[in-house]
Order: sequence, then structure tokens, then C-alpha cells
Amino acid sequence: MTTAIIGTGNIGGTLARHLVRGGESVVLAAKDEANAAALAQELGELARAASVEEAIAEADAVVFAVWLDTIKELIATDARLLENKVVVDPSNPLGFDEGGQMIRTLPEGQSAGSLIAALLPAGAHYVKAFGTLGADALASAANREPQSAVLFYATDDDTAATTIERLIHAAGFEPLKAGGVADAGRIEMPGGDLHQAGLNGALLDLDEARAAVAAQRSE
Ligand SMILES: NC(=O)c1ccc[n+]([C@@H]2O[C@H](COP(=O)([O-])OP(=O)(O)OC[C@H]3O[C@@H](n4cnc5c(N)ncnc54)[C@H](OP(=O)(O)O)[C@@H]3O)[C@@H](O)[C@H]2O)c1
Repeated sequence: MTTAIIGTGNIGGTLARHLVRGGESVVLAAKDEANAAALAQELGELARAASVEEAIAEADAVVFAVWLDTIKELIATDARLLENKVVVDPSNPLGFDEGGQMIRTLPEGQSAGSLIAALLPAGAHYVKAFGTLGADALASAANREPQSAVLFYATDDDTAATTIERLIHAAGFEPLKAGGVADAGRIEMPGGDLHQAGLNGALLDLDEARAAVAAQRSE
């Protein structure tokens, strides 16, 4: 299996390092191909760099580790290439105003996940994942002991669920399904009760995470 990681910044670069450490093959793309090439060289023989289109075409799973507006642009350009691929979306509906303050970029109640899932071709396998922790925590909490930290995911698709569980394990975390695409907002920020920011910064183990998923459902 090959995973394309589009974007090699805070999230994409961290994920690429974790997945290669976990034995996964990755193909990396960025806006500036030189950035992807430098990271691929650092990571060795399980990693290579390519253009966005080449990376998507040769991968089984595609992680869009870019900002929400860029994901929308790339899907519009490359929709055809995404048929039959698992599409992993870590985005949050966040931007910055002129004063540099973080702002929500979608209306309350609309998740980035529901927006992206609706833009994909019918044959793509969508899953929201890898955006539930801040980038620093994602980098430092892999292979936590004695109990792995959980990464939540949300999907309606069994193929996507199987693939993301493999990738989350390979990255050094414990996967837990938070729900379907309709629940994606629970694992996004701002506002998601299962996002690290909604958990006061906590990283949960599996028992704690199961309880947190059930808590709001039972309210
Ligand atoms: N940072 C966090 O703590 C955090 C946490 C959870 C979720 N997220 C989400 O994760 C996503 C990525 O965030 P980030 O912090 O990793 O962003 P980032 O550090 O700014 O990195 C963005 C990456 O996107 C690449 N890129 C930009 N336009 C592109 C294009 N047209 N084609 C291909 N690649 C393109 C950039 O390429 P270059 O390197 O060539 O510029 C860069 O590698 C966002 O949706 C964000 O909401 C972030």
C-alpha cells in the first residue's frame, strides 16, 4: 500500500515521519516540489516526492494535509484521479482575520468534513482523520507508553475505516471511530468536543476515548 501525503508542513511532515517509521510507503507532494523532495530524501527509501497529480495517481490513500480552501481547489482539479482512493481529510474550518486572530471559516454547524465529502467523486472513500490533535501533540505523542494515545476518525465507508485504522496504528496511535461524516464536527476545531482543543488539551487512551464518544451521544 502507498499513501500520498499532499502538503509537507506541520501535519503532513509529521505524518510522513510517523508513517515511514511505522513501515509505510509514502509519496510526498507540496506546493513547492523542492519541499517534498527534501523531506523524501530525509526519510529514505520508503519515501519519494512527486507532483500532486503523480502522487494521487500512484497512491491507494491520499492525505490532504493542506488548508481547507486548498483541498477544495485540489479536488476540483483532480477529482477524476480520486475515484477508488481512500481520501483522508485532517482539515479544520479555521482561518485568520486581518488582525491575525483565528476565526471559523464555515457557518456554525457546518463541518469541513461534510463539505469535503460532498465534493468528492462517488467512488472515493472519504474519512476525516489526523486533524484531531495539534501538530505538536501529533509529533510528540506517537508510540506513547504504557497506553497509546487515541486518534479519532469519522467515516461512513468501511473501506476507508479499514485503511485509516491501519494508518493510525502505523503512525503510533490507537484508532477509534467517533461516528460517520455527520459526526465529523465532533473531531474538528473550533467546537468539536472530541478534538484536543475541546478536551482541554488532553490526549485520551482507548477507555477514556470510548467514554468521551459515548458521553455526548447519550446526552
Ligand atoms: N497545524 C496544526 O496544529 C493542525 C492541527 C490539526 C489540523 N490541521 C489541519 O491540517 C491542514 C494542514 O495544516 P498545517 O498546519 O500542516 O499547514 P502548513 O504547515 O501551512 O502546511 C501546508 C502545506 O500545504 C502545502 N500546499 C499549499 N498549497 C498547495 C498546493 N496547491 N498543492 C500542494 N501542496 C500545497 C504547502 O506546500 P509548501 O511546503 O511547498 O509551501 C505545505 O507543505 C489544515 O487543513 C489544518 O486545518 C492543522
